[in-house]
Amino acid sequence: MAPYSSRRRANVLVYADEDALGRAAAERIERLAVETVAERGRFVVALSGGTSPRRLYEELADEPYRSSVPWARVHLFWSDERAVAPDDEASNFGVADRALVSRVPICASHVHRIEAEREDLDAACLDYERVIESVLGRAPGAVVPRFDLVLLGLGSDAHTASLFPGAPGLEERKRWVVPSRAPVPPFRRATMTVPLLCAAREVLFIVSGDSKASALARAVDGGDEDARLPARIVSEGCPGASWLVDRAAARLLRGGPGA
Ligand code: 6PG
Repeated sequence: MAPYSSRRRANVLVYADEDALGRAAAERIERLAVETVAERGRFVVALSGGTSPRRLYEELADEPYRSSVPWARVHLFWSDERAVAPDDEASNFGVADRALVSRVPICASHVHRIEAEREDLDAACLDYERVIESVLGRAPGAVVPRFDLVLLGLGSDAHTASLFPGAPGLEERKRWVVPSRAPVPPFRRATMTVPLLCAAREVLFIVSGDSKASALARAVDGGDEDARLPARIVSEGCPGASWLVDRAAARLLRGGPGA
């Protein structure tokens, strides 16, 4: 599916609306999954939280993608989680489970949620790091495991995952998963860190809606004053990062939302 407008920069694709964005993202992920499984025998993905990817998840759970994605070879992780029970409506796992995971033929043992509801959140983060390493391993000499794909959203303050502007986790360079504190409830969270996110072969930011226009413009077109925004740091730190956005979110991008 062609983007609404020609590629604005190396990494920004603008689509007419949220539905077109969801369809295009599903098409791109299916293609990447098939290619990656053919090349490496499996496809290891970290899903985004929030509501933006819901349309994408529903698209992937429907035909043709329910049949065309090699789900038996897919492993799912989460880029961040709220410190709530997995069946809580605020749970990132819960949102993806209802929209996607429970509706596709994926092996339950390949679904790796963050146990952020545990009292000792740091222990839960350390255990998640061990699961990541046990599934992904590390290439010889590599310091950080590499996901095949990481999906991320964008907050209106340009946070991504649960890395918030000015938060200590943003500067973490050794740990891969750490506790985090959000400015809005649920306050306690767990999040993948910049080194792990930026090691991914591909990072797709999925951004829709007018409420994200300012944050998107700062993350993509911002000047030095925006250089420490979490989404900017991840986007610029990962050569394989792309922004899939709808016109409403692209409203303030340099050059406008496309043709
Ligand atoms: C979370 C997400 C977070 C989210 C953005 C956008 O746990 O909330 O990981 O980074 O992607 O806040 O959220 P919406 O898609 O709901 O606008």
